[in-house]
Amino acid sequence: MSDTTPHEHGLRKTGSFTTNQEGQPVPTNADAHSLSVGADGPIVLHDSYVVEKLAAFDRERVPERVVHAKGAGAFGELEITEDVSQYTKAAVFQPGTKSPMLARFSTVAGEQGSPDTWRDPRGFALKFYTTEGNLDIVGNNTPIFFVRDGIKFPDFIHSQKRLPGSGMRDNTMQWDFWTQSPESAHQVTYLMGPRGIPKTYRHMNGYGSHTYQWSNEAGERFWVKYHFISDQGTEGLTGAEAEEIAGKDADAHRRDLFDSIEKGDFPSWTMYVQVMPYEDAKTYRFNPFDVTKTISKKDYPRIKVGKFTLNQNPLNYFAQIEQAAFSPSNTVPGVEISPDKMLMTRVFSYPDTHRHRIGANFADLPVNFPYRSEQNSYSQDGPMRYSFKHPNQPVYAPNTKGGPVAGVGPAVADNMRWESDGELLRTAATLHSEDDDFGQAGTLYREVFNDEEKAETVENIAGHIGDVTDATIKEAAFQYWEKVDADLGRRVREAEARNAGTDAYGI
Ligand code: HEM
Repeated sequence: MSDTTPHEHGLRKTGSFTTNQEGQPVPTNADAHSLSVGADGPIVLHDSYVVEKLAAFDRERVPERVVHAKGAGAFGELEITEDVSQYTKAAVFQPGTKSPMLARFSTVAGEQGSPDTWRDPRGFALKFYTTEGNLDIVGNNTPIFFVRDGIKFPDFIHSQKRLPGSGMRDNTMQWDFWTQSPESAHQVTYLMGPRGIPKTYRHMNGYGSHTYQWSNEAGERFWVKYHFISDQGTEGLTGAEAEEIAGKDADAHRRDLFDSIEKGDFPSWTMYVQVMPYEDAKTYRFNPFDVTKTISKKDYPRIKVGKFTLNQNPLNYFAQIEQAAFSPSNTVPGVEISPDKMLMTRVFSYPDTHRHRIGANFADLPVNFPYRSEQNSYSQDGPMRYSFKHPNQPVYAPNTKGGPVAGVGPAVADNMRWESDGELLRTAATLHSEDDDFGQAGTLYREVFNDEEKAETVENIAGHIGDVTDATIKEAAFQYWEKVDADLGRRVREAEARNAGTDAYGI
């Protein structure tokens, strides 16, 4: 186990003379001139230096993330200032523990070069390098999500990305999907509201969004939701401000994070959890495993846990941020997933996409390697394998040769436990008393937004619907907002008609 931060792992020392990738000094003029037959003659294939240079260049990109392609990241530290050991035995959350970490913030639908200030949720991905392996909390700046079953995620993303023919983004398909998926109402209300576009990555909260499971030393289980509240305060941009910034500086949020850390103004977030006793989940008024719902803070108040601070910029954006691989499947003893259908599908999807995007041995890269714990896996070989076991170690299990054994050490028998029994079905999870698609969205609009924010939300929605070209889908969108709140629906209809220069019924 090493305690040095991954910040400088992989950093090569700078020398005075150029070499090729194998470390051989390259000849004079080799950086500027290919080897040719005479000054004006053809380039020869055996100039392996020019071949290597171009071949390396041709392979500089890995595929961009299929979602959350544009982002920014930094290293830092989580410090636990409170005692939550009654809820979790995870070493990373014990009082006084400090853990090195990486954070990556992102937009969702835009591609690598897209503007940071387009209206979109923001990714809020955290990787904690703990003594029990890496723990990732891969959340967003919103406490909920658009759909509640991972089987809908590819369709949802297709509707937010680009048309297959023209390659353009299209509000009509966005609203078609949202109105056909009414469980999206809560998240879309959030997205169109005052926190829909954060002022910077520093001025937004982060949420684990899903419910996770914690367990303590005695084996007692709890359901938890993570909240990371910005110590810089939460501030949003109006649509007009965001558009102006997008035109001037597509990297405004990446730049703000980098510059703040560079000048020693380190952003921090206070970590809280909402804790629900295990048995309460069965009868709680909202289904705690439905990621389109929040758990009321009145029922389960936030409990303070600690604080994380980002204090080191990456030394190499590609190696440390682009190749960073976050996954909700990265849990540690005392922390587990829950029976949330989105979360369960995510647990498959992230390591799967990392194998495709970065390669089978993505976990061997310094930024992803669990460098503060032991990595005693029986997996081996594959492209770009870097670390390996001593040759006297058995390569199979079970064995009688003294190789690592499952279920001993910090591992736990009681991780990932809940009861489940029933016939195989394709259906929504059981309904709890107040589960409906529009209820919490209406509460957000009526009880959380002030009058000014309500007016801003109306204008944002009306502006967005204004670009819908299909009359049936446009009408479905108005009805969607009427179901969220009758007054909101009426105001959206009127504002859109005003923008279009018609009356409220499009005439
Ligand atoms: C990134 C899939 C839902 C937050 C990604 C990536 C995939 C993916 C394939 C790209 C990862 C990479 O290439 O490294 C899914 C699927 C979902 C889902 C299948 C639903 C079943 C969610 C939800 C949240 C979320 C509900 C937030 C609560 C993120 C974040 C990233 C990400 C923050 C960027 C991670 C980074 O910074 O590298 N997702 N996602 N996703 N997703 Fe999801």
